Amino acid sequence: MKVGLLVGRETSFPERFIEHVNSSDYGFEAEMIHVGGVKAVDPCEYKIIIDRISHEVPFYRCFLKTAALAGSIIINNPFWWSADDKMFGTALLAKLGIAIPKTVLLPQKEYIPAISNESLRNLEYPIKWQEIVDYTGLPAIMKPYDGGGWKNVYKIHSMDELMHFYNQTGTICMMLQEFINFDRYVRCYTIGKKNVLIMPYDPSKPYLQGQYFLEEGYLEPALRDRITKECILLNEALGYDMNTVEFAIRDGIPYAIDFTNPAPDADAKSVGEENQQWLIKHMAELCAEYAFKGYTPYKQLNWVEMMNPPVKVGGGKK
Ligand SMILES: Nc1ncnc2c1ncn2[C@@H]1O[C@H](COP(=O)(O)OP(=O)(O)O)[C@@H](O)[C@H]1O
Ligand SMILES: [Mg+2]
Repeated sequence: MKVGLLVGRETSFPERFIEHVNSSDYGFEAEMIHVGGVKAVDPCEYKIIIDRISHEVPFYRCFLKTAALAGSIIINNPFWWSADDKMFGTALLAKLGIAIPKTVLLPQKEYIPAISNESLRNLEYPIKWQEIVDYTGLPAIMKPYDGGGWKNVYKIHSMDELMHFYNQTGTICMMLQEFINFDRYVRCYTIGKKNVLIMPYDPSKPYLQGQYFLEEGYLEPALRDRITKECILLNEALGYDMNTVEFAIRDGIPYAIDFTNPAPDADAKSVGEENQQWLIKHMAELCAEYAFKGYTPYKQLNWVEMMNPPVKVGGGKK
């Protein structure tokens, strides 16, 4: 039985995960996947695939969907990952009772050339900027509704700045969000919708350069419990088996800032050796659980039931 890894240019996590699994006694082996032309009817040799890159490579995303149909367990669910975005997630979290920054989805600045003014008759124009800013307050954060890697994230201090940066966003759909003036910030690995590692994090440092730090007692027990419960709750709702969740803490309240990171940073140089070891161990244990104790396929997909009809009990010829 094999676990396959689909990875980008990252080093350290994939190699160390493979080494850990292959030198332990989990009952399966791990290796890098090699994939070329994929036939629609191909079986998949991997019981489980850990996906770290399909958000950047459409071929991989589509391969993973067909692998799921062939019976592989994909971490993370490629169907939901394709549909997910930060705006929906923010709205969902609010419904789950998790604190969120006030957030507004903005119409795009530009559209693809095939879209003309007539195509946009449903759009309110001009945008009611003052109303939007009165709601979010200033400073505010403007970021893509489905972004990642800190790309196109702007801190906005004035209406002039808002217009200046909005005018540079082209066809990217953005949202404007209340800036949470935090006194503490955490990033949490959540594995298998039940294991949570809360990591103190300093976002004032440059991206992927020493933002994680270890500090005993960084959170008081009640706050730690609340964040742990909310990580589990939101990952149950979104269905992610591997995720990181960021909370900005203001006046003791954790506001969910970024919680759709299905291929989270896992490089030891960035997250640190200890945090990476935790991740490797819990990912391997999750694979073992799914491989041997069972796994419920994606319930929201209509075809799953058709492919897996309930087993009839007491059948046989009369
Ligand atoms: N509403 C907010 N309040 C305070 N800081 C924020 C807010 N939104 C984003 N940030 C800061 O910007 C960084 C990048 O934003 P984030 O939503 O995490 O985007 P990405 O998905 O690109 O990582 C966060 O780590 C945080 O430091
Ligand atoms: Mg982030």
